[in-house]
Amino acid sequence: MFDEAQLYSPVTTGADGDVTVHLSDEHPGVHDPEYRARRNAIAARALAYRPGDPAPRIDYTDDEQEVWRIVSAELRRKHRTYASHEVLDGERRLDLPADRIPQLDEVSAKLVPLSGFRYVPAAGLVPLREFFGSFAERIFHSTQYIRHHSAPLYTPEPDAVHEIIGHANQLASPRFAALYAAAGAAVARLETDAALKFLADVFWFSMEFGVVREGNEIRCYGAGLLSSYGEIEEFRRAELRPLHIVEMGTRTYDITHYQPVLYCAASVSEIEDVVGGFFEMVTDEVVAPYLGGAVADRRG
Ligand SMILES: [Fe+2]
Repeated sequence: MFDEAQLYSPVTTGADGDVTVHLSDEHPGVHDPEYRARRNAIAARALAYRPGDPAPRIDYTDDEQEVWRIVSAELRRKHRTYASHEVLDGERRLDLPADRIPQLDEVSAKLVPLSGFRYVPAAGLVPLREFFGSFAERIFHSTQYIRHHSAPLYTPEPDAVHEIIGHANQLASPRFAALYAAAGAAVARLETDAALKFLADVFWFSMEFGVVREGNEIRCYGAGLLSSYGEIEEFRRAELRPLHIVEMGTRTYDITHYQPVLYCAASVSEIEDVVGGFFEMVTDEVVAPYLGGAVADRRG
């Protein structure tokens, strides 16, 4: 068994129906009652969502919009230097607003014609099987809250910036979207949690933290790097290793620090061949010989 990590702030519903998001003591918004109430309200909207409903429309505050404008401008600038051209092409086609936070239905309306992916709301952590499994239906569970305005370039948990600027820009590429869908289809074949965790970790070291060689440069395509103001520059200091499915599926890692080891593909085609090829054929039996060693504990 593995621990489904408190990278996301836990969300609970009390006997009275009140929804509470439990921020960690180090969270920049933990001592801001207004922010905490806001987080609770946004989580409650996601929990009330039923498939087929429109995604909740969040009336974002001026502070929240300002955070988006700051992060969006900084990341857009950094993407030009550090993001893979496959992502940059998707980003141009998707054309997300930089001056305000897009609503999830707006993200879906832009993504569906590009790659068929739709965004649905998540209050916080979605169980791995549901999160990855829904990729088969080209559904992406996304949080809607945004980081605290006191620290616009930092967040201890995935927020709308990560889900949209990181994942949606990546999902605008039909090639990357096909890899998500293949991972989703694989989930239906995996019965054990250990095999599912192996797949999640391969995903982590590719679609979340993957880098790719382009000419003489190393550029990132992973959503975790694309949405991190600091790590998008620091990844060039990481130890780069060639794609290796067993290493990626069993390596321990710590989400709270920059990744010291990253897996670098020779090209997008190599990601498709190696990572996509693994998603296409993985079963419990395929990964069984490699399990029982290292156990990682986070997903992003
Ligand atoms: Fe992510």
